[in-house]
Amino acid sequence: MIWTLVTFVPVLLLRLYIELLGTMLRNLQFMFVGSKHFSREAYDKASKTFDKSILERRLDGKVCVVTGANQGLGLACSQALAKCGATLYMVCRNAERGQKAVQGVQDKTGNPNVHLRLCDVSSVKSILGLVAELDKPGSKIDVLVQNAGVLLNEPQKSEDGYDLNFATNMLGPYILTRLLEGVLKRSAPSRVIFVSSGGMLTQPLDVDVQKAPSARGYDGTALYARDKRRQVAVAERLAELWNDSGVKVLSMHPGWATTEGVRKSIPGFYKFYQDKFRDPEQGADTIAYLALEDEDKLVPGGFYLDRAPQAKHLSMGGTQYSKSELDRLMANLDSMVSQVLEKHKDTAQQQT
Ligand SMILES: NC(=O)c1ccc[n+]([C@@H]2O[C@H](COP(=O)([O-])OP(=O)(O)OC[C@H]3O[C@@H](n4cnc5c(N)ncnc54)[C@H](OP(=O)(O)O)[C@@H]3O)[C@@H](O)[C@H]2O)c1
Repeated sequence: MIWTLVTFVPVLLLRLYIELLGTMLRNLQFMFVGSKHFSREAYDKASKTFDKSILERRLDGKVCVVTGANQGLGLACSQALAKCGATLYMVCRNAERGQKAVQGVQDKTGNPNVHLRLCDVSSVKSILGLVAELDKPGSKIDVLVQNAGVLLNEPQKSEDGYDLNFATNMLGPYILTRLLEGVLKRSAPSRVIFVSSGGMLTQPLDVDVQKAPSARGYDGTALYARDKRRQVAVAERLAELWNDSGVKVLSMHPGWATTEGVRKSIPGFYKFYQDKFRDPEQGADTIAYLALEDEDKLVPGGFYLDRAPQAKHLSMGGTQYSKSELDRLMANLDSMVSQVLEKHKDTAQQQT
């Protein structure tokens, strides 16, 4: 017993120490990279080389769906796509806020083909309702923007009993993408764009999606970044799986952009770095670019910032993962989706 303690306690302490040091290094490098590349100044610099005409292209006859569309980046992206003439479905969870946003986009762009679709992406029942509306015989989706997201600092449960950060940022967008697979493939060439976050650079890939976070020591920022890392990984794998079907799957980071979400979720960080933050339109520029750029110019599974694919890992991050870890993540998510859909099979049947 005593020998076990003498041998294992120092090894355990050393491992903890190395892990802590790794996290500190990663966070430090993240702040350095963030100040340099995620800021308004970085956008101003990068945008000097942008082909401005891309956002002037026409999307008449194309169907675009944007989740979390009533404010922030989702609203800015909706405006950009509606301006190009897209038939646009703005997916919002609140009817009043959603209707106001739809009206605003119609008024600003003069595009009458802008519609509200109600859905709480953290609720499986609500997602099933949205899928039934979007995937009807003869319907199509050319661009799906998975933008809705939250960073909650206090533990909360979703309607289905999952951690609410996870249900909103990972499970919901994943189920929605999987359930829209048929219509996306029918509409090919089509695109799915995950609005992830550079914050994901601070987290390794955690494939264990079933493990619920404990309420004690709940770290909303880390959980948010963990799901944003998963989004990038899922985009990478779906891009491979769906490439031959003509569905391009991409992920992106908007940079640091001033929105209600940021003000509410990370007030300290926002206050400190406020001057470095971009406008929502600048944050949404790459989302609109990914919807409008020529097929052959986009890297499937790429993680974009300021219209260019970026490294998915910090050089000192130690966050690289193997193909088998990626496959395990997908298998775990698919099994969770099957379980949760089984619980909702009555709702699904009513809607078919
Ligand atoms: N702003 C940044 O600097 C930044 C940086 C990196 C990544 N991002 C990502 O960008 C995306 C947009 O964020 P934002 O900054 O624009 O934040 P935001 O202003 O809070 O907007 C988030 C949008 O998502 C909606 N939403 C949240 N939970 C939802 C749910 N369960 N069902 C349906 N809609 C839901 C919100 O609707 P309500 O109005 O009803 O709450 C809102 O419309 C997020 O995925 C975020 O992680 C932002």
